[in-house]
Amino acid sequence: MAFSNRTIRFHLETIFEKEIKRLPWHIPLAEWENHGVRTLDIKRGISRHVVLFVKTGRFSFGIKEISEEISKKEISRYEELLLRGIHTLVPAGYVVREEEPIPLQTPIGVQYEANNISHTITLLVEKVVPDSVLYRRGFSQDNRKRIWNAVAALLAELHSKGVYWGDASLANTLIKFEKVNVPFVGRRTELKAYLADAETIEFLPAISETLREEDLNFFFESMDWINEDLSRQAGSVSRDGLSTEADKEYLRGRYRRSFEIERKKRDFEIQTSYNIDRFLGSISEPSYADLLLKHIGEHKWYLSEQAQKEISLSDAAHDWYENIFVPLCTMFRSEGVLEYFPGKTAAELYVEIMTNKYFLSEKSGKDAGMERAMRDYIKRFGAVPTLAAVLKTASRKMKTILSGKK
Ligand SMILES: Nc1ncnc2c1ncn2[C@@H]1O[C@H](COP(=O)(O)OP(=O)(O)O)[C@@H](O)[C@H]1O
Ligand SMILES: [Mg+2]
Repeated sequence: MAFSNRTIRFHLETIFEKEIKRLPWHIPLAEWENHGVRTLDIKRGISRHVVLFVKTGRFSFGIKEISEEISKKEISRYEELLLRGIHTLVPAGYVVREEEPIPLQTPIGVQYEANNISHTITLLVEKVVPDSVLYRRGFSQDNRKRIWNAVAALLAELHSKGVYWGDASLANTLIKFEKVNVPFVGRRTELKAYLADAETIEFLPAISETLREEDLNFFFESMDWINEDLSRQAGSVSRDGLSTEADKEYLRGRYRRSFEIERKKRDFEIQTSYNIDRFLGSISEPSYADLLLKHIGEHKWYLSEQAQKEISLSDAAHDWYENIFVPLCTMFRSEGVLEYFPGKTAAELYVEIMTNKYFLSEKSGKDAGMERAMRDYIKRFGAVPTLAAVLKTASRKMKTILSGKK
């Protein structure tokens, strides 16, 4: 075969080596289908490069044809993104096909320019929600908002972790239902956005307001392109099916809030050494982090009084977590309190019941007590009206937990 004498260089994660090495790398990607490769017909965003999805052995991959320099950079960016805990494609490596160098006539004679073709390989993300559903007639406003929420969360996370995207767009974002672990609640299904396309990613010590705006505006532009695209395919969408200025405003607001939450979570972690998402459960309001910190501050005061010496905030956080937060949330779960509040995390419920306690105490001029606060809260905001059984055992257990403190 004409191509088969070309040198192929592999730069791969060991676990994927066997499967990737058996693909026909001496042939251009666009011709693989005719060479017995199992290709997958997967919805994808608009792209500049040849991208192919293939199944080989135990794995399926997305493969993009691109220059060596860029694929090397892109793979290392994905690795760094994953290290920073960002939701993105899992890199498998890159494969280079060395082509004949191109001869160039120069004043000092013929020079040869490297002419290599490389491939960025990532693990395939399946069951992605295609962006076209966003605009389908009958796609509810609530669902559309859920997608914007996921996009806002991804952008906020990137920016708060020192990542500038440079190519933020709907086409480069994969939206997918994912099972996530919620402390004290268990596994829950959430819509999550993946960053797909790391070519332009930059890691910076901090992302300025201007760069944040740039990423956001670029994303807004991508919404316009899709609108234009869909308008050309006349008849397939209704006019109000397109994204609107209101969508952008919603996304912007949501992004601002998500960014603020990220900032508060980081402050909280610096002060207490606890990661909110991992140990307490995610929060949907920035002020919840302040309230949690306030409670830990009060606990620190209480512990210091008891010990007759200053207890550090991180020691107090540890004690509060072990002796108050965990037992209360375990009880919320075992007694079914959480079931009255579907969608809420243990951290949110803790904060809300504590806040209710504060308001009830203010109103009556004396400490309302955690138990009454909880009863009242479930009665007023819980989703199911029959509480008697839950309350009976929950109150008993709560007394045991809190009696250590008074
Ligand atoms: N591993 C993967 N799993 C699922 N979809 C992928 C994967 N890799 C790429 N895609 C899809 O293919 C599109 C094109 O890839 P991308 O890296 O954005 O190429 P380009 O640089 O040409 O824009 C992406 O926007 C995404 O929709
Ligand atoms: Mg792209």
